[in-house]
Amino acid sequence: MERVVSGIRSTGNLHLGNYFGALKNFIKMQDENECFFFIADYHSLTTHPTPENLHGNVRQVLAEYLAAGIDPEKATIYVQSDVPEVAELYLLLNMNAYVGELERTTSFKDKVRKNPNNVNAGLLTYPVLMAADIIMHNATKVPVGKDQEQNLEMARKFARRFNNMYNVEYFNEPEPFNFGESLIKIPGLDGSGKMGKSEGNGIYLIDDPKVLRKKVMKAVTDSGPTEPNSPVTESVQNLFTIMDVVSTPDTLQYFKDKYASCEIRYGDLKKQLAEDIIKVTTPIRERILDIAADTEYLRKVVKLGEDKARESAAKTIKEVREIIGFKPF
Ligand code: TYM
Repeated sequence: MERVVSGIRSTGNLHLGNYFGALKNFIKMQDENECFFFIADYHSLTTHPTPENLHGNVRQVLAEYLAAGIDPEKATIYVQSDVPEVAELYLLLNMNAYVGELERTTSFKDKVRKNPNNVNAGLLTYPVLMAADIIMHNATKVPVGKDQEQNLEMARKFARRFNNMYNVEYFNEPEPFNFGESLIKIPGLDGSGKMGKSEGNGIYLIDDPKVLRKKVMKAVTDSGPTEPNSPVTESVQNLFTIMDVVSTPDTLQYFKDKYASCEIRYGDLKKQLAEDIIKVTTPIRERILDIAADTEYLRKVVKLGEDKARESAAKTIKEVREIIGFKPF
């Protein structure tokens, strides 16, 4: 049995990248593994949400998680800030995290470049907080997309460093994980890069069919292949990549063959892709709308998760305090 921990920042609706990168297959793991799923609302503070936005986003992400198939009776689903032990472990790990290594992480450098006016210490130590989330429950596997690979490497490093420093075998070194396959990156449909909330190119689980069709039909392509078997450009490859996760293998192969023989019509490809996305998202969207309206249910789920997560966290903090040398008189 694995101990699985995964999280999503509460900064907006869930998109196909979140769903296929970190969520979809997770659902299958709930029965046989000890799974923790949480909403990373402490992490979202690096971008300074208003109090109303903070709460609204947590609530929305919670409803979308549940709608995607997380079962609060099987997995532990909780809000990060309901478990203040996380903040303590973060503080303790910070003492052995070095400014130089934190400054060198790709996501930190990216954020400095994009928002030079908001280079706060929380951004710098973001991977430490993430490590605290993960090793708090002594995770062995962490379902994440490709973009989180480096953060996972840091989590392993901090776990190992703690063990070495105190000469214990206490924390596992958690592995990034996509269910037997390699980590994936779902691209945007704007020609390059990944799909992301801050990239403004999200295809959201909550989008209705009309919005979805419009987004897909607007996807960037190229002027089409001119010779048989010519290499696929990035923008068209992005369409194939999304098709690979939402459509049947036959459908994908059909359009790849059409491309190879120069007979492809991008309009047809997009129409098919839109319908296949709609097939995946429609049942989830309907559940989101129901669940988001049921405050009583959300309250119950959050309380249940908080209790289970705190039990696990309290045990870790107690043992970590003993290892470090905080002793009662
Ligand atoms: P976040 O909120 O940006 O994304 C949540 C999860 O979705 C994955 N993801 C993607 N996967 C494939 N293709 C994409 N285009 C794509 N976009 C997002 C992310 O890899 C991630 O798995 N730091 C994390 C949240 C976090 C966390 C944790 C995750 C905090 N503590 C502990 C795992 C374990 C984040 O910002 O993810």
